[in-house]
Amino acid sequence: MVFPQRLYLHALLVACCCVLLLADAQRTHPSEVTALRSVKRSLLDPKDYLRNWNRGDPCRSNWTGVICFNEIGTDDYLHVRELLLMNMNLSGTLSPELQKLAHLEILDFMWNNISGSIPNEIGQISSLVLLLLNGNKLSGTLPSELGYLSNLNRFQIDENNITGPIPKSFSNLKKVKHLHFNNNSLTGQIPVELSNLTNIFHVLLDNNKLSGNLPPQLSALPNLQILQLDNNNFSGSDIPASYGNFSNILKLSLRNCSLKGALPDFSKIRHLKYLDLSWNELTGPIPSSNFSKDVTTINLSNNILNGSIPQSFSDLPLLQMLLLKNNMLSGSVPDSLWKNISFPKKARLLLDLRNNSLSRVQGDLTPPQNVTLRLDGNLICTNGSISNANLFCESKGKEWISLPNNSTNSALDCPPLACPTPDFYEYSPASPLRCFCAAPLRIGYRLKSPSFSYFPPYIDQFGEYVTDFLQMEPYQLWIDSYQWEKGPRLRMYLKLFPKVNETYTRTFNESEVLRIRGIFASWRFPGSDLFGPYELLNFTLQGPYSYVNFNSERKGVSWRRLAAITAGAVVTAVAISAVVAALLLRRYSKHEREISRRRSSSKASLLNSGIRGFSFKELAEATDDFSSSTLVGRGGYGKVYRGVLSDNTVAAIKRADEGSLQGEKEFLNEIELLSRLHHRNLVSLIGYCDEESEQMLVYEFMSNGTLRDWLSGSNSQ
Ligand SMILES: *[C@@H]1O[C@H](CO)[C@@H](O)[C@H](O)[C@H]1NC(C)=O
Ligand SMILES: *[C@@H]1O[C@H](CO)[C@@H](O)[C@H](O)[C@H]1NC(C)=O
Ligand SMILES: *[C@@H]1O[C@H](CO)[C@@H](O)[C@H](O)[C@H]1NC(C)=O
Ligand SMILES: *[C@@H]1O[C@H](CO)[C@@H](O)[C@H](O)[C@H]1NC(C)=O
Ligand SMILES: *[C@@H]1O[C@H](CO)[C@@H](O)[C@H](O)[C@H]1NC(C)=O
Ligand SMILES: *[C@@H]1O[C@H](CO)[C@@H](O)[C@H](O)[C@H]1NC(C)=O
Ligand SMILES: *[C@@H]1O[C@H](CO)[C@@H](O)[C@H](O)[C@H]1NC(C)=O
Ligand SMILES: *[C@@H]1O[C@H](CO)[C@@H](O)[C@H](O)[C@H]1NC(C)=O
Ligand SMILES: *[C@@H]1O[C@H](CO)[C@@H](O)[C@H](O)[C@H]1NC(C)=O
Ligand SMILES: *[C@@H]1O[C@H](CO)[C@@H](O)[C@H](O)[C@H]1NC(C)=O
Ligand SMILES: *[C@@H]1O[C@H](CO)[C@@H](O)[C@H](O)[C@H]1NC(C)=O
Ligand SMILES: *[C@@H]1O[C@H](CO)[C@@H](O)[C@H](O)[C@H]1NC(C)=O
Repeated sequence: MVFPQRLYLHALLVACCCVLLLADAQRTHPSEVTALRSVKRSLLDPKDYLRNWNRGDPCRSNWTGVICFNEIGTDDYLHVRELLLMNMNLSGTLSPELQKLAHLEILDFMWNNISGSIPNEIGQISSLVLLLLNGNKLSGTLPSELGYLSNLNRFQIDENNITGPIPKSFSNLKKVKHLHFNNNSLTGQIPVELSNLTNIFHVLLDNNKLSGNLPPQLSALPNLQILQLDNNNFSGSDIPASYGNFSNILKLSLRNCSLKGALPDFSKIRHLKYLDLSWNELTGPIPSSNFSKDVTTINLSNNILNGSIPQSFSDLPLLQMLLLKNNMLSGSVPDSLWKNISFPKKARLLLDLRNNSLSRVQGDLTPPQNVTLRLDGNLICTNGSISNANLFCESKGKEWISLPNNSTNSALDCPPLACPTPDFYEYSPASPLRCFCAAPLRIGYRLKSPSFSYFPPYIDQFGEYVTDFLQMEPYQLWIDSYQWEKGPRLRMYLKLFPKVNETYTRTFNESEVLRIRGIFASWRFPGSDLFGPYELLNFTLQGPYSYVNFNSERKGVSWRRLAAITAGAVVTAVAISAVVAALLLRRYSKHEREISRRRSSSKASLLNSGIRGFSFKELAEATDDFSSSTLVGRGGYGKVYRGVLSDNTVAAIKRADEGSLQGEKEFLNEIELLSRLHHRNLVSLIGYCDEESEQMLVYEFMSNGTLRDWLSGSNSQ
């Protein structure tokens, strides 16, 4: 008779606690919740990635891709900071209600299948820093309202089908550094007003339908490093002479732009690395002044250039590619093109001079092994002026650019199939510990506009660039494969392996995964002259990483702060529940003493009820030191691990975060309460640990959803 009544009371107390928690909880700003709902409504989500978007509060209930500020806004609401929905096979359209996400800094819909036009309302989100819409099926024109985005740093709409002109209003994007509009159907002239964007680094407008004149004023942009305009039609336009006056440009690419007129003199551009003016109708001679010593690539092929090959192409120590084919060049080929080159490691040089009117070689025709020289279609090949002409005059053999990339994989001689679950674990190929199995993070990555044309000499430097910034050892990065694509862009598949340390952990822990992904996904890598802009194609979290949830970047600290701020609400709720409790307690006064005695009960009485006390050490052993490979879930209070106890019982161990520790008395009360609840939908408590500022509960392990749901509080009892 007594027991069910007490249970009833306990259940009520639990209910009170739940009410209290709900009253306590800070919520996402209601208009942002409305906005997110509308965003979801206008999307099609065949893989159901957004299935949890109809449950609870966006910021507090872990909505996929929704990241909020740690701090509560001055209006006492939580605000959405990032919307990260990359690579989720989403289609449908973008909701104009996005504008209600008034504190948004990152809007990321990359690599989906979204159609319709870009809502002009996005121009109202003045906090926006990264606008990432590349790789979709967006159409329509660019709204001039986007020019209001005065904090925008990165503007990527590449690989869509956006039409119409580039709005003049974009000259107001004062902070923008990266404009990536390539591979769309943009028309009209490049607005002169873009020359007001004094902070801009990279302008990629290639593969559009732009026309008109090239604005000479762009050369005044003090920070411009890459101007890539290939495959547009500026028919009849000259390359402005001022383009020889760019102060910081590294890469100028105007391939196939229907440009006419003479070549500007580029000798004043001190750090020019890459120049591509091929497939135009450029006429006249090649200026004879010297190029920057940094140049790796000069492509002037497929024009109507005449005159001779100037000495200025000699003594360029980093040159990889000089393409002059299909012009009307005459005179001699100077052997200084190859003679004085001291090749850096793995360097190669392609000299393609085919189909001109070159009639002789000045000096020795004995280029070193690392030089590929092509002379077919010149008078040299037929006029008998050289004896070994057949070596350079017959188009045969592969060009170096298509050579296979050989990498030395030290794991090749490890025993096959010795890694656990080979889909996710593999030998770390460059690891100092041979045949070390680990689960790499897999990253699809593409250099959008690199300043070189042959990768091998720069692979090591690339590795250092990536690992230095990630604070990793060079051996942790493995370039699984790379290949050149049209652009030319360099697609790579990267694998990052965990560091080998004394614990031989085979996986990155959750915070490392979040840190690394955050750096890639928000472009925190420093700029690189050589490698240029990159794009993130995918960042796959599978196998041992499938539990990782981007939203959990929020830390305990903020929840403490949150609790402090909401103390008022708590006091009210406590007052109400106190009244309720008083009423209940009076009603059950008979049991009151018994209950209060139990409240102050010692751990000893708990042990009598069959609940075990565990030491921290025991539970650490059970979970492999709380290693991430034993993690099965997490919630606002902390994490849940799967552990194997010393008696081989499999248990679920719920470990409170530092920020969610309760008072000892409350903790013991909770344990007592749980020890008495037996219900078919609930798992039963085996024991607890309360030491070393740790609070853990040990439950019987249930592998299906019930446990996780119960522990994460999503089925409110
Ligand atoms: C994109 O949408 C088209 C139809 O609109 C569909 O045929 C295609 O499979 C989709 N692609 C992906 C990757 O979902
Ligand atoms: C998207 O859909 C396509 C076709 O249905 C599938 O091959 C691909 O794996 C999906 N991608 C993701 C990220 O779910
Ligand atoms: C892009 O849009 C234009 C105009 O609407 C259309 O003619 C063209 O076919 C589209 N291209 C692609 C690749 O969808
Ligand atoms: C961009 O467009 C060009 C020309 O249509 C195409 O060859 C190239 O593959 C496209 N690049 C990307 C990354 O889509
Ligand atoms: C923007 O550019 C235009 C044309 O070059 C110029 O007339 C105007 O003064 C510039 N505005 C600002 C604010 O720099
Ligand atoms: C460029 O545009 C002009 C004028 O519209 C046209 O005559 C020419 O054929 C176009 N060239 C190319 C390569 O599309
Ligand atoms: C290039 O800059 C120099 C000095 O800054 C200036 O005298 C010259 O007129 C400029 N040339 C062009 C074509 O703008
Ligand atoms: C020249 O190329 C060969 C491969 O063809 C390479 O083994 C050699 O190291 C290269 N030489 C230099 C100096 O890089
Ligand atoms: C590169 O690999 C190919 C085949 O995988 C091999 O034939 C060639 O000898 C290798 N080259 C070097 C320099 O290791
Ligand atoms: C990620 O991108 C890489 C490089 O393009 C590709 O090889 C890999 O298949 C992609 N993975 C997924 C899951 O899309
Ligand atoms: C060992 O490396 C793993 C994976 O990088 C890391 O999670 C763990 O914290 C490291 N342990 C120590 C003691 O450094
Ligand atoms: C948070 O959401 C992700 C993705 O939907 C999911 O995998 C994860 O289990 C969720 N975590 C919690 C504690 O709800």
